[in-house]
Amino acid sequence: MAAPVRWFVMLCAGALALAAVPCLAAGAADSDSVTVLVTYHSLSGSTEKMARAVAEGARAVPGVRVVLKRVGEVTGPDLFSSDAVIVGSPVYWSNMSGEVKTFFDNWQFKFGVFPEFKMRNKVGAAFATGGQVSGGKEVTMLTILAAMLGNQMIVVSGGGAFGASATTEGDSPGIDDKELADARDLGRRVAEVAAIIKRGARNNSKE
Ligand SMILES: Cc1cc2nc3c(=O)[nH]c(=O)nc-3n(C[C@H](O)[C@H](O)[C@H](O)COP(=O)(O)O)c2cc1C
Repeated sequence: MAAPVRWFVMLCAGALALAAVPCLAAGAADSDSVTVLVTYHSLSGSTEKMARAVAEGARAVPGVRVVLKRVGEVTGPDLFSSDAVIVGSPVYWSNMSGEVKTFFDNWQFKFGVFPEFKMRNKVGAAFATGGQVSGGKEVTMLTILAAMLGNQMIVVSGGGAFGASATTEGDSPGIDDKELADARDLGRRVAEVAAIIKRGARNNSKE
C-alpha cells in the first residue's frame, strides 16, 4: 500500500475507534441503568402527589430512570422493561381501589405474565393514601404487596413498615411534609435495592 493511502487508512481507523468510545460507554451506561416504574390511581390528587414524591426519591439514586404513569396507561413494555414497580392506591373500602385491582388483573388478561412469571425477581413496593387515620392504608399496601408476592417479585418497604402512606381527610387533611418525606424514602430505597439486585445478577452472569 502506498504511504499516503496507508496514512489515510490509519487516520480513518483512528477516527472510527475514537467515535466508538462514547457509543460503547453509552451502551454500558444503559445496561447499568435501573428503571423504576411508579404507577398509581388517583381521583382527587392525593395519591398522585405521593407518586410524584416517590418518583423524586427514586430519581435521586444515580443511574436510575423513572417512568411515572397512571395504572390505566401502563403498557406491557413498561412492565417488562422495569427493574422495579411501585404501585400506589387510594384506600377504597379498606382495600386497594378497583382501578388498581384491575391493573393487577391485567397483568394476566392483557400482558400474560403467567405461567412464565414474567415479573419474577423484579422489586416491588406499595404506597397508599386514605381519608382516615385507621381506615385501611396498611391493608391496602399489604394487598398490593400480596399481588406482587404471587408474581414472585421481591417486595420491599420504605417510609413505613409496609410502604409509604398518608392520611388525607378529617384531622389530617392533605399530604404533609413528613408523608412526602416517607414517599421519597420509599422511592429511594426501592431504587437502591433494584440497583443492588441488578449488579448482583450481572456479576453472576459473568462468573
Ligand atoms: C369509594 C371510596 C371509598 C373510600 N373508602 C375509604 C376507606 O375505607 N378508608 C379510608 O381511610 N378512606 C376511604 N376513602 C377516602 C380516600 O381513600 C382518600 O380520600 C384518598 O386520599 C383519595 O385519594 P386520591 O385523592 O388520590 O383520589 C374512600 C374514598 C372513596 C371515593
